[in-house]
Amino acid sequence: MPDRYAVFGNPISHSKSPRIHALFAAQTQQDMSYDAILAPLDGFATAINNFMAAGGRGANVTVPFKEEAFKLATTLTARAQAACAVNTLSFHEGAISGDNTDGAGLVRDLKSNLGFDLAAKRILLLGAGGAARGVILPLLEEKPATLIIANRTEEKAFRLALEFAGRADTLPEACGFAQLAGQSFDLVINATSTGLSDIALPLPPHLFVARGLAYEMVYGRETPFMKQARAAGCRVADGLGMLVEQAAEAFFTWRGVRPVSVPVLAALR
Ligand code: ATR
Repeated sequence: MPDRYAVFGNPISHSKSPRIHALFAAQTQQDMSYDAILAPLDGFATAINNFMAAGGRGANVTVPFKEEAFKLATTLTARAQAACAVNTLSFHEGAISGDNTDGAGLVRDLKSNLGFDLAAKRILLLGAGGAARGVILPLLEEKPATLIIANRTEEKAFRLALEFAGRADTLPEACGFAQLAGQSFDLVINATSTGLSDIALPLPPHLFVARGLAYEMVYGRETPFMKQARAAGCRVADGLGMLVEQAAEAFFTWRGVRPVSVPVLAALR
């Protein structure tokens, strides 16, 4: 019997994770299976417990269960604690360890796939929800010159920045969108949920610089944020690389082998 893994979410049929992990497993010759499992909205813990009881070795967790997975885990990595959310579970003799590989996936995509070094850069993170929170600590650990969190609801950005005070050498700053006027950044990351809609954020035109990078966490569509950045002459990336890299990090956690993600990313494109 191959070792069993799965991704849990609701909805889940669109998930690319089974394909990504099948490609990783083939590449590294790991004897494992990886399914997509639809958990009922009120039945995430039961679904995970059933999977464990059936011999499951680990799981990925996606929308809307990452906070529930955080509560379900019996041990947490530092980056999962900082994110207050878990996307990777490992099961061992009844214990459930929780990790969050989203931020590491973003950083690896930026550095390895896009060739963008974060040290001493000016970074702007748009949004103060779960997606933003999940990537802050790994971004700070790269020692940027500045990390500013900007959010429509300014208060939420301030509260989020405060949570990370003292956790890394760089102290995050916070503001609303209006305070971005006159500022520019080497890297602008869209972690708001507007990437899923056609709503454009009220961003000042000089925010993006010609040699900079605009990173949209959503993938599979040209979002208003990507259009804004392109219009300003900025290089643009979507979140597909982050998806593949967070999966590679989870795979490494489970199997102790790091897959090469470049051919997998190319296959998905
Ligand atoms: P996620 O888990 O995807 O981060 P979330 O926790 O609901 O989802 O957070 C959504 C983020 O997108 C928030 O930063 C939200 O801003 P507010 O805190 O002001 O609500 C942001 N967002 C959603 N719709 C937006 C819009 N139309 N304009 C600007 N920001 C928006």
